[in-house]
Amino acid sequence: MYGQVAAVRNLSLTVERGEFLTILGPSGSGKTTTLMLLAGFEAPNTGDIVIGGKSVAAVPSYRRDQGIVFQSYALFPHLSVRGNLEFPLEMRGVKQKDRSARVERILNRVHLGDFGDRMPSQLSGGQQQRVALARALIADPPILLLDEPLGALDRNLREQMQGEIKTLHREFGITTVCVTHDQEEALTLSDRIVVMRAGQIEQTDTPESLYDRPATRFVANFLGEANFLDDIGLAVGADVPQSSETIAMVRPERIRIWAPDAAGRGFADDRQEVSGTVEEMIYAGPLRKYQVRVGHAQLIVREHVAAGQQVFRKGDEVRLDWLRTDIRFVTA
Ligand SMILES: Nc1ncnc2c1ncn2[C@@H]1O[C@H](COP(=O)(O)OP(=O)(O)O)[C@@H](O)[C@H]1O
Ligand SMILES: [Mg+2]
Repeated sequence: MYGQVAAVRNLSLTVERGEFLTILGPSGSGKTTTLMLLAGFEAPNTGDIVIGGKSVAAVPSYRRDQGIVFQSYALFPHLSVRGNLEFPLEMRGVKQKDRSARVERILNRVHLGDFGDRMPSQLSGGQQQRVALARALIADPPILLLDEPLGALDRNLREQMQGEIKTLHREFGITTVCVTHDQEEALTLSDRIVVMRAGQIEQTDTPESLYDRPATRFVANFLGEANFLDDIGLAVGADVPQSSETIAMVRPERIRIWAPDAAGRGFADDRQEVSGTVEEMIYAGPLRKYQVRVGHAQLIVREHVAAGQQVFRKGDEVRLDWLRTDIRFVTA
């Protein structure tokens, strides 16, 4: 609770030893608050937090053996990069000689070998973020807590650091809880993902299951793009089980797009098809995305770009079809 505001409510979460768990959700959904509860910077009004079988709800964060990367990095501004990295080792009573060796090793690991003498203010956002990550890891903590750890990095460096975090996680087996609003990052890094919405958990599952079997419309939309068949007024068919509370959904990459007179398309009972008009074609390197008007709604189609493929333009009449078995049902 922040005053009268309950930032997180009724949250129950178990993290397995050695697991990489990501808390994913839009801005303001309570991710940072949850992480600060885990870290001991916030205390829950009710309930408990247990690590390794022991209650730690009353243990202050500095007494806990954990590495943290804050959303704001929180480097010590008056200490050099080297000083920032030595700090957690000093706190744990590591000898000077060992400290220096470990600092050099981790600096190289995050590609900052030449930056040890700089002050944080002399670093870019991305470099500061990497120092924060190095500082969290340097004392080999059993638990690593990350709040938007790669948010300030540009795409290439972010992907490189994602790989680095994954390798570190695998090598050291650190139990990791990572907070992000970036769905791709969550899908790439995690053993399991917790999707948060308005201070509560919406769904927890593996990346594959969350994407392939989202439970709610919110999760379907937040992890990737979704086409809701109710929006185009399409009955799913009596052969597909559906209750009145669920909405039928198809992912854009499950839909095929055809010219109306295309040869070789054939028609099969196991597919559904509709007619539409291309409103937009967006080329995105390996993928082509179509926005197709169907009745009053729009369906999104994603296709891998391939040689000899027919490309449709704005205004083209097309047929769309998909397998009935690719339809998923979510709740509102
Ligand atoms: N110190 C605070 N005082 C009052 N409200 C806060 C404070 N910190 C966060 N909140 C509110 O709690 C909710 C969750 O915030 P936060 O956990 O930071 O979300 P996220 O990290 O998912 O963006 C938001 O509505 C936010 O405005
Ligand atoms: Mg946050």
